[in-house]
Amino acid sequence: MCGIAGYLGFREAYPIVINGLQRLEYRGYDSAGIVLVNEDKLTIHKTKGKVSDLKELVINKNTEANLALGHTRWATHGIPNNINSHPHISNSGNLVIVHNGIIENYNTLKKELLTRGYTFQSETDTEVLVNLIEEVKTRKNCKLGKAVQLALKSVVGAYAIAVVDVNATDEVIVARLGSPIAIGIGANNSEFFVASDASPFIEYTKDAVYLEDGELAIIKKEEDIVIRKINDDSLVEPDIQELQLNLEQIEKGGYDHFMLKEIHEQPNAILDTYRGRLLVDQDIIKMGSVDNNIAKFLNAKRIIIVACGTSWHAGLVAEYLFEDLARIPVEVEYASEFRYRNPIINKDDVVIAISQSGETADTLAAIKLAKSHGAFVFGVCNVVGSSIARETDTGAYTHAGPEIGVASTKAFTTQITVLTLIALKLGNLKGELSNSQFHKYIQEMSLIPSKVAETLKVNAIVEEIAAIYKDAPNCLYLGRGYNFPVALEGALKLKEISYIHAEGYPAAEMKHGPIALIDESMPVVVIATKKGHYDKVVSNIQEIKSRKGKIIAVVTEGDTIVKDLADHTIEIPFSEEAFTPLLATIPLQLLSYHIAVMRGCNVDQPRNLAKSVTVE
Ligand code: AGP
Repeated sequence: MCGIAGYLGFREAYPIVINGLQRLEYRGYDSAGIVLVNEDKLTIHKTKGKVSDLKELVINKNTEANLALGHTRWATHGIPNNINSHPHISNSGNLVIVHNGIIENYNTLKKELLTRGYTFQSETDTEVLVNLIEEVKTRKNCKLGKAVQLALKSVVGAYAIAVVDVNATDEVIVARLGSPIAIGIGANNSEFFVASDASPFIEYTKDAVYLEDGELAIIKKEEDIVIRKINDDSLVEPDIQELQLNLEQIEKGGYDHFMLKEIHEQPNAILDTYRGRLLVDQDIIKMGSVDNNIAKFLNAKRIIIVACGTSWHAGLVAEYLFEDLARIPVEVEYASEFRYRNPIINKDDVVIAISQSGETADTLAAIKLAKSHGAFVFGVCNVVGSSIARETDTGAYTHAGPEIGVASTKAFTTQITVLTLIALKLGNLKGELSNSQFHKYIQEMSLIPSKVAETLKVNAIVEEIAAIYKDAPNCLYLGRGYNFPVALEGALKLKEISYIHAEGYPAAEMKHGPIALIDESMPVVVIATKKGHYDKVVSNIQEIKSRKGKIIAVVTEGDTIVKDLADHTIEIPFSEEAFTPLLATIPLQLLSYHIAVMRGCNVDQPRNLAKSVTVE
């Protein structure tokens, strides 16, 4: 996700917009840019790096303007560099745009525009959009607002945009589908603010309109804002709200911590990650980096996964996915061990490196080792242009947006999303999954964002459970099959943000020692969802109960058997066994979050930890 900030009014626009961008850097910080609009001139300054680098770039330059649009980028298409930075300008030099979102059909649109003589400087989907708007405006000989509306009708994807025409510098056109945009309204329409959230303008006005999906706004100085529906041009009565949030609350989306915000972002993060890849209506999974290397994947004798921490847990889920759905042998390695143990790596091995930050030193070293043995290395990263993204032969990005909380949450579920898509695609191509099985899986995958949103409703129940166990000295997490890695991940979450010692085990492993730990002071979190060796897990629960362990069970909604056995049950929606990790992990994220808050821990920056471990 990216940050947009704009101003139209009587004040100097530059300081308002640049400060607004700094407040939006939690949304992305790969590059930053601003366009200053005067009577007949668009002046664009943009650079790779942070907003502070943009400020450096603009020092001693004329920044006078009463209209400006700014952007801080989280790269999705095109690596972070000056050319790919926003704002983007149309071929004529008349139109300029800032955009947050993903245009899925930008390649198709770009090809069409190329045939019409348009040229492109950047690799971005945004530059395609601004030229599409220009093409429509020219062909229809219409005003900017109508051109934007008509152009957006042929766009597939998500966007929040602000567009300006140098020949009409008293207005800004704003539109939204899938990405947030707020419009701050000054007294008597004397000034307007446009931003991804209200943080850039909260000190200037508390009156704001939040565009809804499919809406376009025409903002003109000294006039009432006009809002229309993009699809049918019908007028929408602006819903002007008086904001009650303070600055810090706005940056965290109204949540108390970035971690909680990011837990709740998971439905959209998963949706954004499979957007343009999971094409249910065409019954296909489209992933260029996999398609272009499909022989390597299909001929792989083995997949080696290298990662650390939560990403290593995602790798363990992938082991079940690839072996279950695509029948490809998998080895999952701690990158820190792999890099030093002189491993056997063959040329027909496919190595998958998983990393949220794309900067983890051990994972980077493991990649280099694998490449030195001639293996093909595929990256799953959340940061475009990161070291790991550049070092791997190719890869697929998660589109989780920046993950600010040190404890990884949406990165974990979006990593699993990418890996699930690959496993399903390979399983179908290898004939391990029939077309009907494949179709059933991708149908269910398309329901996962809504099922994750449904699962998030357990928050209140989990908070009550957290209050009971917040002072427990230890905690065990148990799961079987696909849910064994989820148990490990749940234990890591609790450890790293509440500092309670926790361990994850395969549920059946209890009898080989850990069961000696069970007594009435030991809370045991058991993932006991339907399918997934359910009956065996019920037996494990009974073993724990007979030793007076306190059982917190994550069950499939409607479960009655475990409900009678466990001290607490948390119900999650039913899904395919292979997709259960995407749902079962949510209550465990919330449990660790609430316990940490109740223990007064620093949830977003836990002691001794860093968001990216760039050292050995
Ligand atoms: C997880 O909550 C931790 N923040 C940590 O284990 C993290 O997953 C690990 O350091 C790997 O980071 P990466 O995904 O950026 O490579």
